[in-house]
Amino acid sequence: MSASIPAEGVPEGRVVGADGYAVGNNGDYFAVGRKCRHLRADLAQGSIDEDGCLVCPWHQAKYDVNTGEMTQGPQGIFAKIPGLDIGFKLLTKVLPLKRGKVTQLNNDLIVE
Ligand code: FES
Repeated sequence: MSASIPAEGVPEGRVVGADGYAVGNNGDYFAVGRKCRHLRADLAQGSIDEDGCLVCPWHQAKYDVNTGEMTQGPQGIFAKIPGLDIGFKLLTKVLPLKRGKVTQLNNDLIVE
C-alpha cells in the first residue's frame, strides 16, 4: 500500500503524516513509522533537529531516520530514570522504527 502527498507540503525541516508514516525532509525525504517507541506519540507531529534526526513531540526522544534507531532517550522527567535512555536505545536496535521508501514523482511524493 502506498500514499501520495504533495511535495510542496514537505519543505526542508517539515514532518507530516501519511498513513502509518511520519514523512519528513531533512535535506532528503524520509519516511518512518509514526508511533514513538516510548509512549506512542505521533512522530508526524515531531520536528527535525540540526543533525537531521526526528524529534518526538512529547518527550523529545530522537531517532536516526536512516536506521529507525533512537539516538537520544526521552527527556524531561524520563531523563532522570537510570537505564531508561540506554534501554530504549537497545530496544530500537532490535525493533527500530520501520522505514518507508519515498519517491518523488513530478510534484508528488509516493510513500511506500
Ligand atoms: S512518547 Fe516519544 S519520547 Fe515519550
